[in-house]
Amino acid sequence: MRPLYYYQTSVVCIIPLLFCNIFPLAAADSNSNSNSNSNKSQSKRGLAYQNGAHKADNRLLLSPESPVAWYYTWSLWPAPEAANDTAAVEFLPLVHSTDDVANDDFGKQLDGLPASSTHLLTFNEPDGDTGSGGSAIEPEDAAKSYIDRIAPLRSSGNDGRTWNISHPSVTGSPRGLDWLRRFNESCWDLDREKGCPADFVAVHWYGEFEGLKGWLDTLHDFYGHTPSSSSEREKSPKFWITEMALPQQDDEATLRMMNQTLPYLDGLDYVGGYAWFGAFRKGEKANGWTGDAVSLFDDEGGLTELGSLYLSSGHGGNGNGDGNGNGNGQDGSGGFEPGKKGPPGDDDDEGGAASMYSASRWFAVVVGLVAAGLVAW
Ligand SMILES: *[C@@H]1O[C@H](CO)[C@@H](O)[C@H](O)[C@H]1NC(C)=O
Ligand SMILES: *[C@@H]1O[C@H](CO)[C@@H](O)[C@H](O)[C@H]1NC(C)=O
Ligand SMILES: *[C@@H]1O[C@H](CO)[C@@H](O)[C@H](O)[C@H]1NC(C)=O
Ligand SMILES: *[C@@H]1O[C@H](CO)[C@@H](O)[C@H](O)[C@H]1NC(C)=O
Ligand SMILES: *[C@@H]1O[C@H](CO)[C@@H](O)[C@H](O)[C@H]1NC(C)=O
Repeated sequence: MRPLYYYQTSVVCIIPLLFCNIFPLAAADSNSNSNSNSNKSQSKRGLAYQNGAHKADNRLLLSPESPVAWYYTWSLWPAPEAANDTAAVEFLPLVHSTDDVANDDFGKQLDGLPASSTHLLTFNEPDGDTGSGGSAIEPEDAAKSYIDRIAPLRSSGNDGRTWNISHPSVTGSPRGLDWLRRFNESCWDLDREKGCPADFVAVHWYGEFEGLKGWLDTLHDFYGHTPSSSSEREKSPKFWITEMALPQQDDEATLRMMNQTLPYLDGLDYVGGYAWFGAFRKGEKANGWTGDAVSLFDDEGGLTELGSLYLSSGHGGNGNGDGNGNGNGQDGSGGFEPGKKGPPGDDDDEGGAASMYSASRWFAVVVGLVAAGLVAW
């Protein structure tokens, strides 16, 4: 459809990885009741966490009052800002490459995660090439890793926890679908009994609301479940939209798209979660391709109208009461008005994020990566 979009998106999405500090793993939390906070229990809303973004912004998004109920970091490492609240906000680790799983520490890393972590994401945009920052994994290689190291975690993680696992999250494009088709073929070639079993499907979408609906339908067809009858719907794997935005449009169009999208996804039984791209401030390079209008924060760290909308009405489905006593939908922003900022903290490094995303720094990182031979294949 718009290959350039997806191509460049991969660049945007890998940026957090380039700055992937090795955070100490959050101590496993014995309180695994991930739904104890009523502000989050009915919410599908998630955070695509930008490592290196402003800490105060992340604290606001992850706060107990926020409807953000889960987050991921494009990596196996949780966010430091969430360390105190691990039971309330589920962390979804992401296996980025076949190297991640080949590493002997892979199992240990997963074991160290809070008990509330039960969903594992695999291979981010494997159909994107490394030259543009995608993970560029051949379907055959991905299938082999998946069967050898990932699928076994479904029945027993190394610490006895069972993981719900997603198929690789391809770009929202025909190229992505083609990759999934070849992945499936390889899976069945390697394991004629089970293929590559998955519990949910991670989805990426950049474009208009109507296009998102169409893409979800396309994936439903692909997985053999047309959502036309309720019995079929029940068989459907859950879809988690881990990246979505309307790129390169103005504030008004973007707000309209989000305003259509959130209630739609909230109302679909087969959608388990979704995360907007992205949690950054206007004027920073992380949104160089998507444009500024997708930013949840303004250039001073206050919520944009879009950010305010994302943090409001995060409860339940179609406007039915869910027992929370919380209004669904059009009842204002529930304390997250535009301009609201995250709480300041000791560990703030304000100003760092902006320069981190500067074009020259980014260029240096890419050159460094190439030089280091990390993209040798
Ligand atoms: C939920 O959010 C409200 C404000 O919107 C806050 O007063 C309440 O403490 C929050 N609940 C929890 C469990 O943090
Ligand atoms: C976590 O809690 C401790 C103790 O209450 C506090 O000192 C620290 O600042 C908190 N960390 C974050 C990231 O909120
Ligand atoms: C995990 O996946 C299975 C289907 O494979 C599903 O029945 C179960 O509800 C899922 N668990 C969660 C917590 O989503
Ligand atoms: C995957 O391949 C198997 C075996 O060829 C086939 O039966 C199945 O329909 C395929 N699934 C998808 C989602 O394409
Ligand atoms: C969002 O949609 C509702 C109707 O579904 C409408 O009342 C409201 O004005 C819209 N808000 C924005 C910001 O577009």
